[in-house]
Amino acid sequence: SATPVKVAVTGAAGQIGYSLLFRIAAGDLLGKDTPVQLHLLEIEPALKTLEGVVMELDDCAFPLLSGIVTGADATKVFDGVNLALLVGARPRGPGMERGDLLEANGAIFTAQGKALNEVAADDVRIGVTGNPANTNALIAMTNAPDIPDERFSALTRLDHNRALSQLSAKTGSPVTDITKMTIWGNHSATQYPDVFHAEVGGRNAAEVVGDQAWIEDDFIPTVAKRGAAIIDARGSSSAASAASATVDAARDWLTGSPEGDWVSMAVKSDGSYDVPEGLISSFPVTTKDGSWEIVQGLEIDDFSRGKIDASVKELADERDTVSGLGLI
Ligand code: NAI
Repeated sequence: SATPVKVAVTGAAGQIGYSLLFRIAAGDLLGKDTPVQLHLLEIEPALKTLEGVVMELDDCAFPLLSGIVTGADATKVFDGVNLALLVGARPRGPGMERGDLLEANGAIFTAQGKALNEVAADDVRIGVTGNPANTNALIAMTNAPDIPDERFSALTRLDHNRALSQLSAKTGSPVTDITKMTIWGNHSATQYPDVFHAEVGGRNAAEVVGDQAWIEDDFIPTVAKRGAAIIDARGSSSAASAASATVDAARDWLTGSPEGDWVSMAVKSDGSYDVPEGLISSFPVTTKDGSWEIVQGLEIDDFSRGKIDASVKELADERDTVSGLGLI
């Protein structure tokens, strides 16, 4: 039988983990023919909770789940992993400034980048979900000099999926009819969900909508602030949808984006679309067999340019902050 794929998940005892682990073990990420071994990293105080989650995983008797490794030592838990989903992060506590948040997470992603560099499998791919995702990915990437930079990405697939869902509701078309959606920039409120290159049933989405005011005043802020709306309604942050997007992103990265379509993924900029080289910024990408390519040649009008520039400026500021802290 096939060799199990080793998938690391950090923050495995958290909210997203509680949904994500079961999706992976059920075969939603690697397919129904590929056994999986879960490598679950948590901090010491959460290991007991994690034990409970592992009991539930056991109790599902998932046919594809061939083993579970748990622990708080990244160099042990990441040993030999082929895919690392870095979900665990320090949430912003009361009175914590943005700089404090970047610093607290910087320590986590510095250590995890180093551990991956040391012990992960040669073919490892690393997806960062934990916030601030783009900058955390930049820190991990910089601290893993032996792992090719293109093996790191940060999650903007949830934003992408939210954008698909909003456009679907507006146009009355199923999400499966919507293609070429793009999230540009940072996974934050400055992100730019771009419908101007998207298509609904093969027709330009902005033309189908025919309502610039809706795009500017409704669609963009709804997508960008969806996380806050969910916290307001649910009393805690989006978890199942974040887990689902984490699965979608990793699955498409490993197996390929659909023909004639693309996905949004935050990856290291090569200067495409005037996004400064080296920033981990969201782009339209096509994926295949574990690699990605930024879609080239899209025309960017003044409206889109301004939105992309604003989000990219925020990324550059975050980079300057963590660089000033000596984290990269
Ligand atoms: P949570 O607070 O429920 O769980 C986080 C878990 O990470 C906790 O169990 C904690 O013990 C663990 N953790 C903290 N430091 C760790 C470390 N150094 N190593 C291993 N584990 C560690 O949070 P939740 O809801 O699961 O969210 C996780 C992260 O994902 C947050 O940063 C959140 O902001 C982010 N997020 C990102 C989204 C995206 O689209 N990129 C969407 C939704 C959430």
